[in-house]
Formats: sequence, structure tokens, C-alpha cells
Amino acid sequence: MPEFPAYRPRRLRRTAALRRMVRETWLQPSQLVLPLFARSGTGVRRPVEAMPGVDQTSIDELLRDAREAASLGVGGVLLFGIPDRKDETGSEAWNDDGPVQQAVRALKRELPDLVAITDVCMCEYTDHGHCGVIRDGDVDNDATLELLAREAVSHARAGADIVAPSDMMDGRVRAIRAALDDKGFTNTAILSYAAKFAGPFYGPFRDAAESTPRFGDRRSYQMDSGNGDEAMREVLLDIDEGADMIMVKPAGPFLDVIQRVKAETGYPLAAYQVSGEYAMIQAAAERGWIDGERVMLDSLLGIRRAGADVVITYFARAAARLLAAGAGN
Ligand code: PBG
Repeated sequence: MPEFPAYRPRRLRRTAALRRMVRETWLQPSQLVLPLFARSGTGVRRPVEAMPGVDQTSIDELLRDAREAASLGVGGVLLFGIPDRKDETGSEAWNDDGPVQQAVRALKRELPDLVAITDVCMCEYTDHGHCGVIRDGDVDNDATLELLAREAVSHARAGADIVAPSDMMDGRVRAIRAALDDKGFTNTAILSYAAKFAGPFYGPFRDAAESTPRFGDRRSYQMDSGNGDEAMREVLLDIDEGADMIMVKPAGPFLDVIQRVKAETGYPLAAYQVSGEYAMIQAAAERGWIDGERVMLDSLLGIRRAGADVVITYFARAAARLLAAGAGN
């Protein structure tokens, strides 16, 4: 490579036009996915405490949010359900008339081009808040697989384009793929939360989804934050079991994992900018300590640059709006 003064990197940074021309990574609304929280009722909109701008909504209100997202070009939505009733096994998860199933049907009727992704997990549905059934004080892996498969089939029956298991049980992708195929849903895709790290970044979400564990934590099933090699094993396992897309979560603190997964698999990759990442940016912006809009766009661009094709973010609408106005890019 030529050295200074033959090579002057600043030459291509002189004007906006030059910078745009050599820009390597772009943010596009179609690459963003907006998480939404569905509950029963009509006209319900309950703000989530530590996530300003995020609400739990009934289906009619959820449709308003989804319409707005679609009109801004946002690629898809990721649906979570807050059931009216919780029990030990989370049986509302596979109720064909549950909030997620109703939301999917309404979305596919009204906004068929918006990709409908459903989160497949038990923690919103169990009265103890863990991601599966409990035996001897811990989540029973193999007994949980059957329940996750039922939930995924129910979401597919409602019309979900993609089901996204977030429970971190071993063998769930294979169990879900087999159940979907058995019921004829061979075209329903699986986005596996393959490298999902346990930790404090999900705090605000647990208020949103009302899914805080009543005892213990999730470290016996979600990954240890120090482990990049193990993340690769989790990802390769899920690909072998039939995952169509892979997810890394959280996103910002795990950019190295995003980069490795993309480089080593070449698979379609989603990264989830989770509730804690969102809350930190919103809180600092509210205090005037950072320029919230610019930090938002930069945080999303960094996740894309690391290698994510798709970014799941509570900022999806706000970012799409700014991009349409010519910001960031
Ligand atoms: C369900 C699930 C969680 C999130 C997505 N799916 C919570 C958890 O694992 O405790 C977190 C999303 C966020 O923090 O924004 N298991």
C-alpha cells in the first residue's frame, strides 16, 4: 500500500458526494425489524416503563403501529404475546386465539408484504417466568421441546412467515422443523436465536413482556457472555438442525460474534439490538448528553458493518423515518 504523501485518505472525505460514493455499509429500512407486544382487548396501549416509545398494545393498536412501520418501508415485525392467563406449562402459548396468533392473522390480511416473525418461547406464558417447564428447580430441556414445537405450529397455522425460537433449549430447531414439516408447513422459515447471551441487557424487556423469572435466572440455558467459540458451536448446531437464519443477541456488546458468524457461515444473519441497548440510548438522549438520533443511526450502522443483514430494533420506525429524510446515509 502506498504511504503518505502518495496516499492521503482525506482526499475521499472532502465532500458529501465523495463520502457517499465510497461508503461501504448502508442502512435500509427493509433491513430493520420492529418488535411489537400484543395483548388482548381493544384500544389498549400501555407504555413500557424503561422503554420510552414502546407500548404493549391490543391488536387494533398493534395494526396502527405495523401500518406505520410498513409505510416507512420497515422490513418486518417480531411479535411477542402477553397472555391473559399464565400457568406452569405456558399452555396459552399454543392457543390458536392467543394475542400473537390473532396479530399474525390480522397482519397477514392487511399488510401481507410486511414480514411477520413470531418469537417462540415459554417465558411470557409460564407463571414462573422461565423459558420452559420446570423439573427439580431447573428447566427440563427435553420436556420443553414438545411445547415449543406446538407453539411454533400454532404460529405457522396463523400465517407467520418466520418463527424465531428464543428459548435456548438444546435440539429445539430440529424439533420445531420436524413438527412444522409434519403439519405441512414446509415453507415456514426458522430464525434461530442461536447465540443468545444471558445477562442484564434484557432487563427492560422483561417489564414489557412481563416475563421476569420468579426464581433464579436464565444462566442454565442462555450463554455465558465470555464465550465466542461456544457461540460458533451453537450456530453450527442450529444450522445442522435446519435453521434458515441465525440470530446473535444482544447486538452492540457482541459485534465480534456477529462478525465471526457471518464470516464463518455466510448464513442470513439477524442481530437483536435489545431493550437495554435501546434504554441506554434513550436515557442519555433524554438528558441531552448525546444526540439520540445520530447515536441511534450509528449504533445500527455498526451492527450492519459487523455483518448483520437484518437488525431487530425498537428504533425501526424512528430510524426509517430519519433515513427517508436523508439522515445518516
Ligand atoms: C424471550 C425473549 C427475551 C428477549 C427476546 N426474547 C427475554 C429473555 O430472554 O429474558 C429479550 C429482548 C430484549 O431485551 O429486547 N426469551
